[in-house]
Amino acid sequence: MSRQERTQPPAAPADENVVWHPHAVTREDRERLHNHQGVVIWFTGLSGSGKSTLAGALEQALHARGVSTYLLDGDNVRHGLCRDLTFSDGDRRENIRRVGEVARLMVDAGLVVLTAFISPHRAERQMVRDLLAEGQFIEVFVDTPLAICEARDPKGLYKKARAGELRNFTGIDSVYEQPERPDVRLDGEQLVTNLVSQLLDLLRRRAIINS
Ligand code: ADX
Repeated sequence: MSRQERTQPPAAPADENVVWHPHAVTREDRERLHNHQGVVIWFTGLSGSGKSTLAGALEQALHARGVSTYLLDGDNVRHGLCRDLTFSDGDRRENIRRVGEVARLMVDAGLVVLTAFISPHRAERQMVRDLLAEGQFIEVFVDTPLAICEARDPKGLYKKARAGELRNFTGIDSVYEQPERPDVRLDGEQLVTNLVSQLLDLLRRRAIINS
């Protein structure tokens, strides 16, 4: 991406009197300081698929290698930035829009951002990809069958959903659209250490971390 492109605003504001202000310190300057590129590793999959566990384990592995990371996790973000949002389709869309914008700012800060959101709709995942430059969005599909997620049921939410005590639960009475062309598809039944190794290999191949 050229210096000129980088200084362009990402989208037009609602009020035409708001003017974009380019900054002297650029993403490239910050990336040089971190000694790696900024990028988003976007985990998507059902509740209980292992997204948070895997993102947490990958973050630990990256941190130990001196990479500047930040993990945005669905349950945690819904305690703060998105605590006003429900699980309706519209609110899930707004959840992912906000998280996408935050992730974009963090990439601009030169961080390796890991996100763990169900992000059930293809359109919203594409929206986040479109916010970022080519290669800055890595979609990781944690492919764990519904039956396995339901058997794990770490928070007892599938049980509640089956009992009709919880509405709009992903995979039960709310849709999950599988990625058609994810950057990586992981078998969510494999050991976390194997999956982390696969992701570290990918990040090395893409020159995001050093070999
Ligand atoms: S998303 O669909 O908007 O991307 P997000 O990842 O933020 O979802 O939150 C998902 C987490 O919220 C789940 O892991 C689960 O713990 C909890 N949760 C509570 N209610 C629901 C629901 N109706 N559907 C899915 N997850 C739910």
